[in-house]
Amino acid sequence: PKNKGYNLWLQYETVNNVALKKHYQNRIQGLMPLGDSQTIQYAYKELELALSAMLDKAFISVDNTKNLNNLVVFGSKSNLTKEFLKALPNEFHKINDEGFIIKAVSVKGKNHILITGKTDVGVLYGVFRFLRVIQMHRSIENLSMIDSPAIQVRTLNHWDNLDRTVERGYAGSSIWDWHRLPDYIDSRYIDYARANASVGINGTVLTNVNANALILTDQYLEKVEALSNVFRPFGIKVYLTARFSAPIEIGGLETADPYNEDVKNWWANKAKAIYERIPDFGGFLVKANSEGQPGPQNYNRNHVDGANMLANALKPFGGIVMWRAFVYSEHDVTDRAKQAYSEFVPYDGQFKDNVLVQVKNGAIDFQPREPFHPMFGAMPKTPLMMEFQITQEYLGFSTHTVFLPKLYEEVLQSDTYAQGKGSTVAKVIDGSLSDVKLTGMAGVSNIGSDINWTGNVFLQANWYGFGRLAWNPNTSSKTIADEWLRLTFSNNNNFVDALTTMLIESREAVVNYMTPLGLHHIMGTGHHYGPGPWVSNLSRPEWNPVYYHKADEHGIGFNRTHSGSNAVEQYEPKVANMFNDVNSCPGEFLLWFHHVPWDYKLKNGETLWNGIALKYQEGVNQVKNMISIWDKMKPYVDEERFNNVKMLLSIQFKEAKWWRDACLLYFQQFSKMPLPKTVDKTE
Ligand code: GCU
Repeated sequence: PKNKGYNLWLQYETVNNVALKKHYQNRIQGLMPLGDSQTIQYAYKELELALSAMLDKAFISVDNTKNLNNLVVFGSKSNLTKEFLKALPNEFHKINDEGFIIKAVSVKGKNHILITGKTDVGVLYGVFRFLRVIQMHRSIENLSMIDSPAIQVRTLNHWDNLDRTVERGYAGSSIWDWHRLPDYIDSRYIDYARANASVGINGTVLTNVNANALILTDQYLEKVEALSNVFRPFGIKVYLTARFSAPIEIGGLETADPYNEDVKNWWANKAKAIYERIPDFGGFLVKANSEGQPGPQNYNRNHVDGANMLANALKPFGGIVMWRAFVYSEHDVTDRAKQAYSEFVPYDGQFKDNVLVQVKNGAIDFQPREPFHPMFGAMPKTPLMMEFQITQEYLGFSTHTVFLPKLYEEVLQSDTYAQGKGSTVAKVIDGSLSDVKLTGMAGVSNIGSDINWTGNVFLQANWYGFGRLAWNPNTSSKTIADEWLRLTFSNNNNFVDALTTMLIESREAVVNYMTPLGLHHIMGTGHHYGPGPWVSNLSRPEWNPVYYHKADEHGIGFNRTHSGSNAVEQYEPKVANMFNDVNSCPGEFLLWFHHVPWDYKLKNGETLWNGIALKYQEGVNQVKNMISIWDKMKPYVDEERFNNVKMLLSIQFKEAKWWRDACLLYFQQFSKMPLPKTVDKTE
């Protein structure tokens, strides 16, 4: 389709610079695919589509080099001829099975660009990376690039229901058209796979964590099989959410007790049936004993019992279990932030080797800012998988423009001190800190059937950025912003520089106008859109915003120090001490860990009350600034995408003011202090 929003970061705009275009045209005379797998065929198609569009020329396709010069030769190691193999004496041992090598080589006196890897999927990743070089208008002289993903399981989690509603989805209905599957293959599935492969995402969990057992019936598995056939050539494995009580609901058993032999057999047979259809099925994602979902605790068993039972069923076929740690119960409500750690850390080392424990980035729930989850670093014998939310449940849905790689980077670069200084969360996740064998990162998808996939074109950057960080968790958010802007819109440096700054700042803006200084979970309840710090009447105390901010006439904030809930204790002593002492606690987490008097003096000399008010105002100012930056970008952007962002930014501006006014008015009844002069109530 011609719609630029639809085309994501694979725009393949024609290179306008004449000299540069000549350079590419000279260096690329033809394409030489090696091997005939579907993956290689898709790699060929992508090269042809992209190069003919970007370079304005048709390419010859050859099956041997003949006497030609300047071919793009692409295929896996096993398909390379001796001459090409010889040109890479020292490279293959540097990559893993999904890695790639892109290299300018000279064979029989002719120059070619070789794109290879140990597998065809590695080659496909190399092809996308090669195209990115041209999309970013970089030279392809003397190319030499070697790269491999640092994390093995790189999945999107779709919280998609079988009726095509999407839990916490803000970009239209689910892209999975269950009704027309398996026979009707929407071309969108292929574009989804291309987009994912282009950033290295290699797994998709098709269904909601609040699972429906029906997905495991033959009627649906047939449809899942059709999707997996579409995704396989792109290196994408399909996973499903497994409802723990499925043996009862669709299996006719009376129990789902993981110790029961019939239950174990039921899952073993179910796994077998799935693998007969989908030989490379990825495995199960499970939300158990959380927010009303069934789980092993219903039978007085624990997380290890449940996860290992499913792991045993999948093991013969090479599948994995991603067992979520997002649990909190109504029985101990002193501090929800402590519960996942308390429930899971004692089980370190007891999970089977094909289980990953999937942990949200913070201990509460995908807030605009949370300190890193204390489980990271605390379970050295258990593979922990990161779960980020790409969809913006608590960050203004897809209406608000927020660049999330900045948030992800902050979490990944946090130091757990688990093995001394430098024990970043990234090192926990990529397995390097304690040498775990299985590694993974999941992102809760923001994709729907809106024409531009994510509702707001800017939020495509969050899908893109998640993929880049899952490939390499040490990629900087600035690099991601720069790349994404060039691929998606324009290589003009004025444009890229201005918008990189805007994207990077957009994350701090949302923190400022929603939850500054460590405030959290004060959104309107249920939907989580807009402010609702006053809500206090929900049945479970920990669902109420007042539970989190604890504002009263003495002050505001959640005391998680030694004198309070003592959640700080779940961190390594070095980190715990830093958070515990109000003087060393970073300002952005102040009210996360401390209940602080309204007239407390902040490091900048302001009272706490003034500090909060000024932050809300700063957030509003930042959105205003985003609008003025975007307005200047009109010459660089097509009308449709320009207007999409412009209209959404103006809603965001209105709502940033709504947040500021609502929260300050509400909190002021406790602080009883006047607003600082620079807080603008007239706008
Ligand atoms: C949040 C969200 C739910 C979701 C849950 C989860 O609480 O509001 O919709 O199901 O997270 O991650 O399981």
